[in-house]
Amino acid sequence: MITCSAPGKVYLFGEHAVVYGEPAICCAVDIRTRVSVAPADSITISSSLGTTDIDFKTHPYVSAVVERFQDISSLEGVSISIESEIPVGSGLGSSAAVTIATIKALDALLGTGLELDDIARMGHEVEQRIQGAASQTDTYVCTMGGVVMIPQRKGLDLLDCAIVIGNTNIFSSTKELVANVAELNDKFPDVIGPVLSSIGMMSATGEVLVNAKDYVSVGKLMNINQGLLDAIGVGCSELSSFTYAARNSGAYGAKITGAGGGGCMVAIAPHECVSEVAAAIASAGGEVVVTKATDIGVRVE
Ligand code: MEV
Repeated sequence: MITCSAPGKVYLFGEHAVVYGEPAICCAVDIRTRVSVAPADSITISSSLGTTDIDFKTHPYVSAVVERFQDISSLEGVSISIESEIPVGSGLGSSAAVTIATIKALDALLGTGLELDDIARMGHEVEQRIQGAASQTDTYVCTMGGVVMIPQRKGLDLLDCAIVIGNTNIFSSTKELVANVAELNDKFPDVIGPVLSSIGMMSATGEVLVNAKDYVSVGKLMNINQGLLDAIGVGCSELSSFTYAARNSGAYGAKITGAGGGGCMVAIAPHECVSEVAAAIASAGGEVVVTKATDIGVRVE
């Protein structure tokens, strides 16, 4: 049996603006999806959702990966089992992690010799097939790990502070939120355009601050980014209340991560404040994940 894992990710800066070509900074986080594969006579895919054959309703991403390997190798049977610490559909890159970990595991089992760039590319194609459209951000960051400036794919220094995530457990559709921002931008281009370029400027400024390990300033910029995400209509009262709770209990800064409208927020905090920040988000109603940045992308366990 071979087990591979891949990390989730958060946006420090730049979601939504990245859709308009502005830079963003993403950070792989140390919550992982593990995929184990073993030779078998037929195809079985097992997860907390059940055990299936190729099944695009229950296991769409893994099914699409299996079909890719049927095209490029002699794969006939395999037993695949999935375990994940990444909450599904919350903007933390769960679909990219399961896709990338499955590709790496099948590559190791079948000896197809894929390089990391090939894995990221195949992962992106699989996400596009399943979602209709997908940015390359999640699959790239989860393959490579680390803190990455997008679209340049430039690696920054690893964050040396705590990362606290608050999940609203409110479903939000990335497609719908991206469409809402586009509508706002069409209606008020002179207002929304500068907001989006200002978010892009935060990523450019943030790059220097992350590398200088100036987390007080990174946090201040994240707070400003949060204000601008609210301004383009992707906030919600739960996300606001969690971000204020985090800031008031010692976080350097806090903001939405991902599409917003529900999903998750992320706070960065000094190591010594983690329990206060986590408790504050939890008492505001959030499901809390305490984690850290990781430079370990997809790997064989
Ligand atoms: C969603 O996780 C991030 C967005 O910027 C959309 C995208 O980049 O594809 C909102």
